[in-house]
Amino acid sequence: MDLSQLTDRINSALATLQYGQQPVALYEPIRYIMALGGKRIRPLLTLLGAHIFTDDLEPALKPALATEVFHNFTLLHDDLMDQAPLRRGKATVHEKWNPNVAILSGDVMLVRAYELFLGVQAELLAYVLGRFSQTAAEVCEGQQWDMNFETETDVSIQQYLDMIRLKTAVLLGFALELGALLGGASRADADHLRQFGVGIGVAFQLRDDLLDVYGDAATFGKRVGGDIVSDKKTYLLLMAQAQATNTQRAVLGQHIGQPVIDPEAKVQAIRAIYNELEIRPQTEALINEYFLDALQHLERVAAPESRKKPLHQLALQLLEREQ
Ligand code: IPE
Ligand code: IPE
Ligand code: MG
Ligand code: MG
Ligand code: MG
Repeated sequence: MDLSQLTDRINSALATLQYGQQPVALYEPIRYIMALGGKRIRPLLTLLGAHIFTDDLEPALKPALATEVFHNFTLLHDDLMDQAPLRRGKATVHEKWNPNVAILSGDVMLVRAYELFLGVQAELLAYVLGRFSQTAAEVCEGQQWDMNFETETDVSIQQYLDMIRLKTAVLLGFALELGALLGGASRADADHLRQFGVGIGVAFQLRDDLLDVYGDAATFGKRVGGDIVSDKKTYLLLMAQAQATNTQRAVLGQHIGQPVIDPEAKVQAIRAIYNELEIRPQTEALINEYFLDALQHLERVAAPESRKKPLHQLALQLLEREQ
């Protein structure tokens, strides 16, 4: 199972999806965001989850696309909430059009995502829709915690980890569980794969938070430093706050929760503190810990190693990603 071939298959199938024509301002932004690319991780997880148990990936294809359409819906709303100017190296939808467009095009994408599940076999349909609905609500919960924490001063590491599990990891877990179920896995194996997905999802978001500070804007495709500017309570910031010297604490206090006069100066000052405290290797260590824990769930799936290998390989790629 070649990962780039599978990505091509996903992209070809995504390109055939029809969203609608009129009004143009509703549908054009959808075609725009969907055509901008992206790693297509969630549908890849669904197809790789199915491939552990079957060679016939066809029944999993549309549901796999549903996870990608849903993900792109969350990006439209997330970029609006985060006031992000850039996505996949291009202007975000709310910048290119306007906030109302990002809201409503996003809404119709959520509806289309549901539609893409309609072909799921009758015995699984209700279960799959129930799990998807639960996951989608959890993503919203995580997103609201993320926004709440921007203005909170005493967020704990545990609260942060719970927040990223909800906003990001549960969808990766669901994508894998979905593929497993559609591929004919037992509920027990599907659940191990879900837990593997949640584990690598937490690691994936930790990596995202790291890249937000240390990424190369051209490769990352998003504005570097955005989390710092908006006082996101990331693992990096929480660890820095916990370990800061008195002088560093004073600098943090001048910036966090204060009106931003010079965004670039704020990013530089806080990144300098992260560097002094060696926050980067500490974050990388936690990413590794989550990855190793997650692998235990993959190991417990009752299938030959050769069928699980592509998933292991994808997980490794994700945690070393620069994009
Ligand atoms: C971005 O997701 C949002 C996060 C959960 C960090 P991806 O990093 O999967 O974005 P694309 O789809 O590849 O652009
Ligand atoms: C992503 O969190 C969570 C969702 C999109 C649901 P971020 O806000 O960190 O994602 P990016 O960095 O904008 O992609
Ligand atoms: Mg964001
Ligand atoms: Mg966000
Ligand atoms: Mg981010």
